[in-house]
Order: sequence, then structure tokens, then C-alpha cells
Amino acid sequence: MRFASKKLKKIEVAKLIPARGEKLRRVIASFVTLASVALGTAGLCAAQSVIRPGEPWLDHHGQRIQAHGGGITVWKGTYYWFGEDRTPANDPEKRYVACYSSRDLVHWKFRRQVLVLADPEHLGPHWVLERPKVYANPRTGKFVMYAHLDDAHYKFARVMVAVSNRIDGTYNFVKSFRPLDEESRDIGQFVNDDGSAYLIFESRPTKGFFLAKLTDDFMGVEKTCFIPAPLEGGALVHYGNLYYVVGSHMTGWRPNPNVYATAPALTGPWTEFKNLAPPEANNYDSQSTMLVKVTGSKTTTVIFMGDLWRPKSLWDSRYFWMPLDMDHGSMQLPPPQPWTLNVKTGESAIQANGK
Ligand code: DGJ
Repeated sequence: MRFASKKLKKIEVAKLIPARGEKLRRVIASFVTLASVALGTAGLCAAQSVIRPGEPWLDHHGQRIQAHGGGITVWKGTYYWFGEDRTPANDPEKRYVACYSSRDLVHWKFRRQVLVLADPEHLGPHWVLERPKVYANPRTGKFVMYAHLDDAHYKFARVMVAVSNRIDGTYNFVKSFRPLDEESRDIGQFVNDDGSAYLIFESRPTKGFFLAKLTDDFMGVEKTCFIPAPLEGGALVHYGNLYYVVGSHMTGWRPNPNVYATAPALTGPWTEFKNLAPPEANNYDSQSTMLVKVTGSKTTTVIFMGDLWRPKSLWDSRYFWMPLDMDHGSMQLPPPQPWTLNVKTGESAIQANGK
């Protein structure tokens, strides 16, 4: 009961002060959060350690996390979540990427809108910036953001690159280009265990995914592999002795059964694609955006990070994070259930009573 009333307080504050970015709103929201913590009970803490796929996910100010089509960057022991910020109060002529940080992948602190960009290539009023991903370059000390850049009809089909000196600093647009001179729409991000960084991009004319290693300065790419499967929402993880690639079919914003394939090396050979979940489940209405590997002192959990899109109100799209069942070349997505994660041990546990 006490938990419910504290939660209610946060929601009421959020409703009363609608415009994002207003200092006053954040101050009041922070005050309520601090008050909740000060008054907090063990029950409250336990409840908040749970990841609940499909439910509104709040940041430390009690505001809805805006990081759609996102990606996770690990930097100095902290996780950073970057994604499309679709806040309704944003300037409709600009596109926004928000950044959040966390030590446990459950509680997220809003850092800032790290990219606020006006149409950089004169693409027209409904221009598109989707699926931003940030790579930390230890050689140059720079942080490099890639995102899908397009016009309203998805014909421009390029990536944009923006750079910052700080992980949560301002990212400045540098250029757009077609990686490997190919059309590029949905992008994904992969950083291998040795630190090498890759862009995954979907290329419609060639009907497949390209895996492309970033050059030393991360400002360009070179070909690693082409996977002949017309899929989008590309994501990749290295687990055990295998690489697993995941993708969705091309049905716009509508969900479809996502699929995966494996290979002993990034260059292949890749197996046939298989369903990640029973096809009738339609991937529990989610679409892949990233696979996050959490290796702790006891075990490794691979998280399926997906979006539950609401195309008519993209700001209200939800997140679908679930630990994958991994078993010698098989990867299965469980149905949405509340679950807990311990990043120190790498353990994840689905809540037995569903609470
Ligand atoms: C599916 C893509 O995965 C999304 O990022 C977005 O581009 C929609 N298509 C648009 O229809």
C-alpha cells in the first residue's frame, strides 16, 4: 500500500508538470524521488529491482525512459543506454537522442539529450533518425554515434555519424554516408570480447545484413561478412564458442517472429535462421534492437533488448528485455515475465510468482 501511494505521487507530479526539460519539473521529481528513498522500505527496493517487460520504465526522476531502438555502451564500469527520445514536447523539426546511465541495468539515471539535431541533409519535414548506437573508442578517446538517417520515404538510406568528447556530452554531426556504398536502414551494434567494434546494417537491394568492422578511428567501416537474409533490427552476441545474430522480418512497425542464426566466426559460415520464440507468439509483439551480454562472477546472462512499438504514439512505445535461454547453439526468448538481474554475479531469475 505504501509503495503504491509513493508511486502515485511520482505519477501525479509527472502529470502536473508536462514539459520535459523544465528545470522545475526535474527538481520537484528529484525531490519526490529523494523523499521516497528517505522513507523507503525494503519492499520498495525489492519491487524496483525487477525488470518488467512492457510496463512503463521510469528513470531516477520518475519520468518515462525515452531510449527507443536503443543500444547499451559499457564505459568504465557503467552502462549507458542511448536511444530515440520521442518526447511529445520535443521540437518536431529536430530529432533527439537521450542518454541514461546505470550500474545495474535496472535503475537508470537520465543524463541528458546528447543529440539534438536539425535536418542535417535537407531531407524534409518528416526526416528520420532511428536506432542510435554509441561506440567508445579507447584509441582516440572519442565517442562515436551511428544512427539510421533517412527521408520520409526511407530512400536516403544512410548512416549518420556524430562525435562527442564525453560519453554523455553533446554529440556533433560530422557526416552521413552509405557504409560499403550500400543502402543502409536499420543498424545494430556489436563489440567483440577483444574490443573490436562492428556495425550491423540492413541492405534491402542486396537482401541481407552486412557485418562491418569499424575502422581504427570508428569513422568508417570495412566489410566483415554478408548474411543473405532480408532482415532488420539486427543484433549480435558472442556466447560460448558461437556468434548469434538476431533479426526481425520487414513488416514496418508491426511485430513478427524474430529469428536467429549462429556461426563459429563472424565471417561465417552462418546456419539457417530459426525462430527465437514459437511463431504464433509473434515475438511477444517485440522487435530486436540489441543483445546485451552480462558476464559476472558466476555465470553469463544474454539479454534480448527489444522494442514494443506504438507507431501512433512512439513516445509511449515500451521496452521488452528478457534473459534468453541459451543452450549450445540454441537461443530461445521466454514469454514476458518480471525478472531480476545481478550484474555482479551475472545471474538472472524469472520471478516465480510473476510479481
Ligand atoms: C522497422 C524498423 O525496424 C524501425 O526502426 C522503423 O524503421 C520501422 N520499420 C518503420 O516502419
